[in-house]
Amino acid sequence: MDIKSAKFLQSTPTLKGCPSPEKPEFAFIGRSNVGKSSLINMLVQRKSLALTSSNPGKTKAINHFEINDSWYLVDLPGYGYAKISQKERNSWMVNLQEYLTKRENLLNIFILIDANIPPQNSDLTFCDWLGENSLPFCIVFTKSDKSKQHQLQLNLTEFHKSMGVTWEEMPPYIVTSVDKKLGRDELLDYIQAIIATW
Ligand code: GTP
Ligand code: MG
Repeated sequence: MDIKSAKFLQSTPTLKGCPSPEKPEFAFIGRSNVGKSSLINMLVQRKSLALTSSNPGKTKAINHFEINDSWYLVDLPGYGYAKISQKERNSWMVNLQEYLTKRENLLNIFILIDANIPPQNSDLTFCDWLGENSLPFCIVFTKSDKSKQHQLQLNLTEFHKSMGVTWEEMPPYIVTSVDKKLGRDELLDYIQAIIATW
């Protein structure tokens, strides 16, 4: 898929505030600093599209971008980010869960996971929650350039093992690096294949 246009549409904290669900939608989520904004910018080949709307660690918003006038890309603040109070976090989690479970045009959720660290409970818990709610998702390992190939393989194997505790089958996954421009075509092909079923 070629990216011909990418524009920021709007930002809202709630499902109710989202644009009308008439186009296929893909959401990106992951812990703070995992590389969400960077990956989105690599995907759409813009230097700072994703940064225009997000205030890292502060925004409790669902940020919509419109790609090729035909599908929505959504940037979500991470689960478990630290800079807000417990009360704010709880209210954001309620909004986030409502968006993820009730957004009718949401075709796939990309969960970004740092490829350089051991499996994190917050990531595993989030994957389990998606599974319990029958929400389709794909794992995107980020920053793969930061580890040697051997270590990277070990980390991926460890993650599969940890998932294997609750999952019979590993969900689809894509290994990416913004620095090495790795995984862009694979991500776009994945999105295109799902759009074709819309
Ligand atoms: P928040 O908005 O705070 O939740 O962070 P984020 O998930 O959007 O992460 P962001 O894209 O801001 O990246 C965080 C840091 O990781 C930045 O310093 C990036 O330059 C760096 N980074 C992102 N992707 C990669 C990558 O593929 N390789 C390397 N080496 N660094 C990366
Ligand atoms: Mg960001």
